[in-house]
Amino acid sequence: MSENQEFYDNLDVRANYFAHRRRPDNPNDALERPLFLELAGQLANLDMIDLGCGDASFGQEALFQGARSYRGLEASQTMVDMARQVLANTPGEVVHERIEAWQAQSEQADLVSSRLALN
Ligand SMILES: C[S@@+](CC[C@H](N)C(=O)[O-])C[C@H]1O[C@@H](n2cnc3c(N)ncnc32)[C@H](O)[C@@H]1O
Repeated sequence: MSENQEFYDNLDVRANYFAHRRRPDNPNDALERPLFLELAGQLANLDMIDLGCGDASFGQEALFQGARSYRGLEASQTMVDMARQVLANTPGEVVHERIEAWQAQSEQADLVSSRLALN
């Protein structure tokens, strides 16, 4: 992996990640997802920001549930490209930006999430 390449831009890393992530018994869906959704509550009518959004599957789901807007931040260009495909034909958007560069502003969003990215 080159010095400037993001971790998830590496083909092997990404293939391995999605092979695990898309397994029906993956830890995200088995453990993290139910707890996260319980804590987040209703997503309808929320303006959302998702830090380290990956392929933005969560954005797609949130918009389907009636979220007003969804903006994902993502460091990996390959993930950004995938996320834009996932969010095509939705009002969702993805920004190629590192979390560290994000400037939080008051009343910018109703919900700021970061699922398995800050670790
Ligand atoms: C384990 S994946 C989780 C993706 C998504 N949140 C999910 O739950 O499916 C972590 C994602 O966070 C991104 N990420 C990690 N550190 C980041 C940073 N400092 N800024 C932006 N994105 C970051 C990675 O590129 C990767 O797409």
